Amino acid sequence: MGDRLKGKSAIVTGAGRGIGRAIAMALAQEGASVVVNDFGVKRDGTDPAPGPADEVVQEIKSLGGKAIANYGDISSWLDSENLIKACLDNFGKLDILVNVAGILRDRMIFNMSEDEWDSVIRVHLKGTFNCTRHACVLMRQQRGGRIINTTSAAWLGNTGQINYVAAKAGIVNITRSVAREMGRYGVTCNAIAPGAATRMTSDPTVAEATKTKGYRPTQEGPEHVAPIVVYLCTDQAANINGLVFGAAGGKLSVYSEETELKSIYKDPSKGHWTQAELELLMPVSLARELVNPAPPQPPAEPKT
Ligand SMILES: NC(=O)c1ccc[n+]([C@@H]2O[C@H](COP(=O)([O-])OP(=O)(O)OC[C@H]3O[C@@H](n4cnc5c(N)ncnc54)[C@H](O)[C@@H]3O)[C@@H](O)[C@H]2O)c1
Repeated sequence: MGDRLKGKSAIVTGAGRGIGRAIAMALAQEGASVVVNDFGVKRDGTDPAPGPADEVVQEIKSLGGKAIANYGDISSWLDSENLIKACLDNFGKLDILVNVAGILRDRMIFNMSEDEWDSVIRVHLKGTFNCTRHACVLMRQQRGGRIINTTSAAWLGNTGQINYVAAKAGIVNITRSVAREMGRYGVTCNAIAPGAATRMTSDPTVAEATKTKGYRPTQEGPEHVAPIVVYLCTDQAANINGLVFGAAGGKLSVYSEETELKSIYKDPSKGHWTQAELELLMPVSLARELVNPAPPQPPAEPKT
């Protein structure tokens, strides 16, 4: 046990399994009191159960740490408000919020149902907003706090997961915006893009389309993701704000913020761009050396 987070209280959502569990354990091992939130659902978000949160609380306690369980659904406004209250009621304040909870409902866009879209957006995007929103009320009053969200490298675009990609891109921009809104109150907000062997990545149905391109899920466990999260909660990280960190196996990385790559300009007083001008200029300027990530393919041969 260390004492880098002694006296701090933390909430970790989705902490009953996988990456959330590893982060909750690591925070507790540095002395933080932890609210272990988990709705206890299957990978697709169905069948809630209290078991996973209870088990992690027992594990933390057996190692001499402090923890309580919370079984709320973070996609519910009320449950997420009660989650923040549970931390306040039990530990007196909220210093750290780590949003990890997530589900998968992978499907190519032409097959995706409305429910598959809505449920993934609700849990990841609304769930992250809900918990962060309620936490920020408190952190603003306290004039301090740490928020760490969970995105995915898939936020940059992927096949077979349009709902997940949209949610994870939204989480990156929630992170950057909360960082800008809350920095003045001494609150930092960063995100991790993790990679770890969990039930989310081990299932054979995960992003079927990505596997055809030779995608290999990370083999290492979620304990490799936890240290950077703990670091972001320490005093040394007080000025690290609005960034996305990759964490998978032994590799840690930091992502750049997107900016305009190149531009062309026409004096607006001379009218808007004409198609003839674009046809002339685009191939030698904005579209120069660009590569189609998925060029058209001939139709598959009918199976005999
Ligand atoms: N494992 C990876 O390689 C990987 C890669 C990129 C991103 N991620 C992200 O990391 C996070 C954790 O993934 P994991 O691999 O540990 O998955 P996991 O399935 O092992 O754990 C997710 C946990 O979230 C809980 N949960 C789901 N919906 C919830 C809700 N509405 N309220 C509260 N809890 C809920 C589940 O019960 C589960 O215990 C997710 O946001 C995922 O998108 C994981």
